[in-house]
Amino acid sequence: MSFATQLVDLAGDRALRIRILSKAAVEVSNSFAAQGGVAAVMRPEDSFLQHVKDTIMVGGGRNDPEVVRLVVREGPKIIRGLIGLGARFDADPTGQLALAREGGHSAARVVHHRDHTGEIVRVLRERVRTTKHIVMVEHERVIDLLTEGEGADRQCVGVRTMNLRSGDITDQFASLVVLATGGAGQLYEHTTNPRTATGDGVAMAIRAGVTVRDMAFVQFHPTALCTAEHGPCFLISEAVRGAGARLRRPDGGLLMKGLHPMGDLAPRNVVARSIHAELRRTGAAHVWLDASPIGTTRFAHEFPAIDARCRATGLVPGRDPIPVMPAAHYMCGGVRTDSRGRTTLPRLLALGECASSGLHGADRLASNSLLEALVIPKRAAEAAINDLAVLGPEAMRPVRENWLTDRTSSSIIRASATLRHVMSMHVGIVRDHEGMEQALRTIARLERSIAPAWARRRWSLRLIELRDLLAVARSITEAAIAEPKSIGAHFVKDPAYA
Ligand code: SIN
Repeated sequence: MSFATQLVDLAGDRALRIRILSKAAVEVSNSFAAQGGVAAVMRPEDSFLQHVKDTIMVGGGRNDPEVVRLVVREGPKIIRGLIGLGARFDADPTGQLALAREGGHSAARVVHHRDHTGEIVRVLRERVRTTKHIVMVEHERVIDLLTEGEGADRQCVGVRTMNLRSGDITDQFASLVVLATGGAGQLYEHTTNPRTATGDGVAMAIRAGVTVRDMAFVQFHPTALCTAEHGPCFLISEAVRGAGARLRRPDGGLLMKGLHPMGDLAPRNVVARSIHAELRRTGAAHVWLDASPIGTTRFAHEFPAIDARCRATGLVPGRDPIPVMPAAHYMCGGVRTDSRGRTTLPRLLALGECASSGLHGADRLASNSLLEALVIPKRAAEAAINDLAVLGPEAMRPVRENWLTDRTSSSIIRASATLRHVMSMHVGIVRDHEGMEQALRTIARLERSIAPAWARRRWSLRLIELRDLLAVARSITEAAIAEPKSIGAHFVKDPAYA
């Protein structure tokens, strides 16, 4: 949405038409669910250099330093622009923006709206709704990219979609295609991502031969609310630890004591691994987040959504310890792009979590993702407006009616569960080579098992998702096996492997 609104602003009187396709309601997204905020240097005591250093330290030095510098420098302007559009961010008693602290940051620099910074999506959606050149189409699932030409002349010309209500398949042609499809948390048994995070854009790009990068690096958030169920877990923002909460072992001791100089606010991969080790050691299902240093009144005021959710489960944050566990949170890699969102396939852009701009490297600094999702689209729009000097004809071509079936076979449900299990066991927080090879064999078996159903073209939504998840799982696992050493979010415990 950020890209679309910027592009329309830049187009002026030109008859640009933008169609945003969303497979679900736009509120069903990681951006809308964002609790933490946008990392930006907003105070004289902080500096761009320090934000750059923190980003590269957490990313294990695998970041593109030029992209890091560029994105960090744009932070304050982006925040001011959002405020101009009507975004509401918290202020401190002196009227300055209130800044939260999160893991890996050497300073408080996270601009936020209470514990619901998804507020930004509300502002952008309102702009989209009132901009006549932008059409929002919900419940339209993109299945594959359409390409034309060979070799260096090959380019993206549109997308093949399925309407999730009618089942109709349509080829939609456009001058430019933008992937902004988010992550793939559904590859894991526990994830903070919504059910829609099935890696669609990355999978389509892989099938179209577009280059992906840094796929080994899947970030696990240390503190998801522990529930017995698999699937989406409620996130307990890192800002809660930034406000003073401490992680405690099952026996009540301080979990991060002596493990890292930044303690509870160490980079996420360090904290998630420390919790994972404690759970393995003790056999417990969760550790505790002790928010008593914050107190009940302040907690309810600063984190109203988390407070309400915890109270709904019978816990009073600030008084009762909160049971937490790590959960898959963010795909640090994705479709390789330059700092203007351009992929290796002409006329295809990728933005946000599905892209790898080079900002994150081997692990993502907290709250840098919304920053990236605002800065890179602006630059992408500036570049695209020139590339779009000659607008191609927009066209729609119905392909076939109703390939959609409501019936998801039990074998697809079982295959999805097997994939989540094998990825959680072997390509999760702690990995080993034998396990990763086993995961790859399972992925190959599942790919073979869905091939006949795919060829028959009676597709259920679950089958479409599983096909995408398998493509992303293969890419993550192959990249993880190929990594020469543990770095960032990729940690291998084989003794022979440093
Ligand atoms: C959080 O609020 O802890 C999540 C923020 C992020 O993932 O950047």
